[in-house]
Amino acid sequence: MAEHEAEQATNQAKDQAQDQAQDQATDPGKPAGKKKSGARRGRRRGGQKAAPSMAEQADRHVLYERSVQCPESEIDFVDETYKKLTGRRARVLREDFCGTGNTTCEWVRRRQTNRGYGVDIDPEPLAWGRAHHVAGLRPGQQKRVELIEGDVREAVTERAPDIVLAMNFSYWIFDTREMMRRYFEHIRAQLAEDGVFFLDCYGGYDAYREIEERTEHEDFTYVWDQAWFNPVTNACRCAIHFEFPDGSRLDRAFTYSWRLWTLPEVREILGEAGFSDVVVYWQGWDAAGEEGDGVFVPTEEADADAGWICYLSARP
Ligand SMILES: C[S@@+](CC[C@H](N)C(=O)[O-])C[C@H]1O[C@@H](n2cnc3c(N)ncnc32)[C@H](O)[C@@H]1O
Repeated sequence: MAEHEAEQATNQAKDQAQDQAQDQATDPGKPAGKKKSGARRGRRRGGQKAAPSMAEQADRHVLYERSVQCPESEIDFVDETYKKLTGRRARVLREDFCGTGNTTCEWVRRRQTNRGYGVDIDPEPLAWGRAHHVAGLRPGQQKRVELIEGDVREAVTERAPDIVLAMNFSYWIFDTREMMRRYFEHIRAQLAEDGVFFLDCYGGYDAYREIEERTEHEDFTYVWDQAWFNPVTNACRCAIHFEFPDGSRLDRAFTYSWRLWTLPEVREILGEAGFSDVVVYWQGWDAAGEEGDGVFVPTEEADADAGWICYLSARP
């Protein structure tokens, strides 16, 4: 751990020095701007402009990232686990279903030797990510990141990835065994020789219910809505809504049509796609025994919780 931190600090210092000359004094953490909603705004009687609601002023990508992502801890986990599995540090990471490429940008910030590719089929989050995340990187870091518009089942990167990520359950868009196996086979073919494929998975008996879960933030409420579930096919439709203190709501800011895959199914299909070493990582409990402690360790047995999230690693 100490060695990793020292290496990281040295590389960050090198990166900084390298970029100093051309650094354009951008603020990495600061979004470049918010969407303007003036065109859709109504007018009060008497011609007075109605004040925009909090929902109208909100940026759904900012809210999404604050609600469901923690790229720092995700990169900590895959970086450390890769080293444990292979005995070396990864350099090239490919983030599938990358959306805004937040995690890819975190990867290139970590070490001067890191290169990151993000792949997503939708140009809209990619454009947002280029404007908000990539633009906030130092010029030297920007050269090491590429956001690619394409289907993860076909995308090919210039350099073979040491790590491929399929996170936030996005691969559940593939709703047949055949589609899933083909995607996994493609990733296996793309990986470097000692590459590792990381995925996440969720489950537990609450996953099969039509329910809403609310998480309070200081300035908004995140609502995860499992709106519809068909137990015959395990097809489900989920949505993310955001609610604000002024009573306004960003309804269905994001929607998903997925198949709810079980952990044994995912492991079996990885095996069918040629991954021979598949490990499941489960987190322990915090001191109060109420929340996950964020420390994921390999396991073959876990508690039958109402709702759980785990990671998987798969090696060819
Ligand atoms: C739930 S978001 C994931 C965002 C981000 N990876 C995260 O961890 O929060 C799912 C993303 O997958 C993308 N997507 C869906 N099907 C895809 C495909 N076949 N190839 C590439 N991207 C796809 C969508 O455009 C969307 O941005």
